[in-house]
Amino acid sequence: MEFIPNTEPERQYWFMDRLRSMIAEEAQRAGRDLTYCIRTFGCQMNAKDSEKLAGVLENIGYKEADSENADFVIYNTCTVRENANTRVYGRIGYLGTLKAKNPFMKIALCGCMMQEAHEVEKVKKSYRFVDIVFGTHNIFKLAELIYEKMNSENKQLIDIWEGTSEIVEDLPSSRKFDFKAGINITYGCDNFCTYCIVPYVRGRERSRKPEDIVKEAKELAAKGVIEVMLLGQNVNSYGKGLEEHCSFAELLKKVCEVEGIKRVRFMTPHPKDFSDEVIEVMKNEPKICAHVHLPVQSGSSAILKRMNRHYAKEQYLTLVEKIKRELPGVALTTDIIVGFPGETEEDFLDTVDVVRKCGFDSAFTFIYSKRTGTPAASYPDEVPEDVVKDRFERLLAVCREESEKAAERLTGKTAEVLVEGLDEGKSGMLTGRLSNNLLVHFEGCENLIGKILKVKLDECKGFYYLGSLLSE
Ligand code: SAH
Ligand code: SF4
Ligand code: F3S
Repeated sequence: MEFIPNTEPERQYWFMDRLRSMIAEEAQRAGRDLTYCIRTFGCQMNAKDSEKLAGVLENIGYKEADSENADFVIYNTCTVRENANTRVYGRIGYLGTLKAKNPFMKIALCGCMMQEAHEVEKVKKSYRFVDIVFGTHNIFKLAELIYEKMNSENKQLIDIWEGTSEIVEDLPSSRKFDFKAGINITYGCDNFCTYCIVPYVRGRERSRKPEDIVKEAKELAAKGVIEVMLLGQNVNSYGKGLEEHCSFAELLKKVCEVEGIKRVRFMTPHPKDFSDEVIEVMKNEPKICAHVHLPVQSGSSAILKRMNRHYAKEQYLTLVEKIKRELPGVALTTDIIVGFPGETEEDFLDTVDVVRKCGFDSAFTFIYSKRTGTPAASYPDEVPEDVVKDRFERLLAVCREESEKAAERLTGKTAEVLVEGLDEGKSGMLTGRLSNNLLVHFEGCENLIGKILKVKLDECKGFYYLGSLLSE
């Protein structure tokens, strides 16, 4: 038997080498190129993982397809709220009908949902046509899993890890955009907010070494990337467990030093860990975008305590005040959960009060979703559905009002815009993003995509602007 490396990523490259000829043979039998399609549910972390999966599939010879009518389909799942799961199951059945018509088709499920034993059981029982099931901790192993599956009679290959301390670097990646990219800085989460499933499906918090992060930023810059987003469930707790100490603020500085990178973003900071040092770096470093996404979750101190968020209403407000004072013009966005167990009308009004006081540029509002295995799943006093719906609608109206007010502030001003693409459906129009994350639509040609340009913000349309290009 040939020697298979037992270190990563060499091991995966070994499998990719073998798979390349195996897939080429399949393509020959099919008489056409084989194609792949990855559907990503959930957050930026999953989007980044999907780019890694795409990198492996392209490396072994699959070409990207624009629909699920493809030869390799992966669903990279999310389980943060119940509706994320429902959406996935709604579509797997359809994949089965496609597979019945295509003898070359392979189906894989991965991501956060697959880290839950009851979901895997369901796939085993009811979706036998799924070829490979893997989780969040062994995502780097895709090549090996495909190889194993193609060389075995085994009908369904399931490989789920409980956790890992390993971080595998330097695997191929196929990025969605040429000019902007995400960079993982931490994996997992140790916060255990009582409503949240993420720590259970993504494991313990691990920080990548600063030198690996800077190396990736440099490689991206060399390929033409000008905007990077540093990714983690709680970015500002970055650095725990590293051999050589490096705080999130220090890491930000290092990334800003990378030549060619013009914009730096990060997602998501936790209010409890937002240090003065980070505010200071943001103040002094023009590359860092004028945007802080600071999930509040609730405005009620009592609810926040039961959510295990480690801050009270007043502390959050003080932090926001400080951020706004020190970073004038910064856009502030947030996440809010409505209907956490035991939420009273008074608690809810505290949330509304925080929205009013902070004047969020935008807010993602969610109805509380009970996640099996989290502490809050067994909390008493569930809020009746009609009450939650009513609060949700009221909150939405307040958030909309505040974000329109916030966006109005920039009407008539000129700002730098990173052109991201064509404005869907409108010919001759482009869409771009301000440093503060707001979108602008304006007239221009396709060859401006990926450039940073000056645009006048003529008219505010609520959550986006209509603008006109000032320079090329
Ligand atoms: N790590 C990030 C985001 C995690 S998930 C953070 O801590 O901010 C993104 C958002 O989903 C959360 O901010 C929260 O508002 C929402 N969320 C998480 N679990 C939820 C649940 N069980 N029900 C409803 N919303 C939830
Ligand atoms: Fe979930 Fe809280 Fe971790 Fe965010 S910080 S991922 S909400 S446990
Ligand atoms: Fe969903 Fe997993 Fe992200 S549960 S929100 S995809 S970390």
